[in-house]
Amino acid sequence: MVAACGPEEKGDPRQVSHSSSTSGPEPSAARLEPTREDAPRPETRVALVTGGAVRVGRAITLALADAGLDVVVGYHGSAAAAREVVAEVEGGGRRALAVRADLATSAGARRLAAAATTAWGRLDLLVNNASTFFATPFDQVGEEEWDQVMAVNLKAPFLLIQATAAALAARRGNVVNIVDLSALRPWSRYPHHSVSKAALAHLTRVAARSLAPRVRVNAIAPGSVLPEEDASPEAVRAAAARIPLGGWGSPADVARTVLFLDRSPFMTGEVIVVDGGTHAAT
Ligand SMILES: NC(=O)c1ccc[n+]([C@@H]2O[C@H](COP(=O)([O-])OP(=O)(O)OC[C@H]3O[C@@H](n4cnc5c(N)ncnc54)[C@H](OP(=O)(O)O)[C@@H]3O)[C@@H](O)[C@H]2O)c1
Repeated sequence: MVAACGPEEKGDPRQVSHSSSTSGPEPSAARLEPTREDAPRPETRVALVTGGAVRVGRAITLALADAGLDVVVGYHGSAAAAREVVAEVEGGGRRALAVRADLATSAGARRLAAAATTAWGRLDLLVNNASTFFATPFDQVGEEEWDQVMAVNLKAPFLLIQATAAALAARRGNVVNIVDLSALRPWSRYPHHSVSKAALAHLTRVAARSLAPRVRVNAIAPGSVLPEEDASPEAVRAAAARIPLGGWGSPADVARTVLFLDRSPFMTGEVIVVDGGTHAAT
């Protein structure tokens, strides 16, 4: 199921899945028998993955669906990819709902939280994966650009945690924030990114204390797991050469750590580094 979210998304194409459509011909008597899709599934856990349609977020979405969760997929620009990931999750027998929301705006974050908590009446896991990533020299970072990066990478995760906390608490749920090695090291080529991810790592600890004991909050700091689409082969090779385990990881490395944290009831306030040894070696 793909849903647009909010007034700024009015032009977004809508597509409602067969499992949730209320339009169309009157159902026959046979159709009134519960099907696998219609049957109530009170035990099915629900996750929200921001930026869940593409790249690392897509791997997280599919891993959670494989693990038996229904998934709300937050997206912004990747409408076609969102439709594809929804179809893939539904093809595997789980429910999926794609919700378009601009996480650069507070209203977008709040509406995404509302859509996720009301979709199937529960929320068990929030994965704050959506992020901006671009280099700007320190002396050229404009105020607007700074605000944009902080809004998507830091403020939106905060608002999403705050707005979903009650629903998560009701299910003893948890939050996983995706940060970066730039949270642990001052990346001077990516000043706003680095500061936003460091703050998100600290928000992880603050929220973990604030929401305990009913909601756990952890983070993952990936190293090089998936090159930018416009990365040069030389840059990809140079990054690989800096990784002690011998090369790039993959989105699956991050997804598997999300599953681990989701299944680790005595962990909160932690940042797990998944980087092939890069941080330990520098
Ligand atoms: N790739 C790596 O090797 C690597 C390394 C370290 C850390 N990480 C972290 O892992 C996470 C995923 O990485 P990635 O490489 O897959 O990221 P990416 O390719 O840059 O994708 C960014 C995601 O964020 C979403 N997004 C960006 N701006 C948004 C906005 N204004 N509103 C809503 N969504 C927005 C995008 O959604 P749409 O496409 O729908 O617009 C997209 O799904 C990020 O938090 C990143 O910092 C990645």
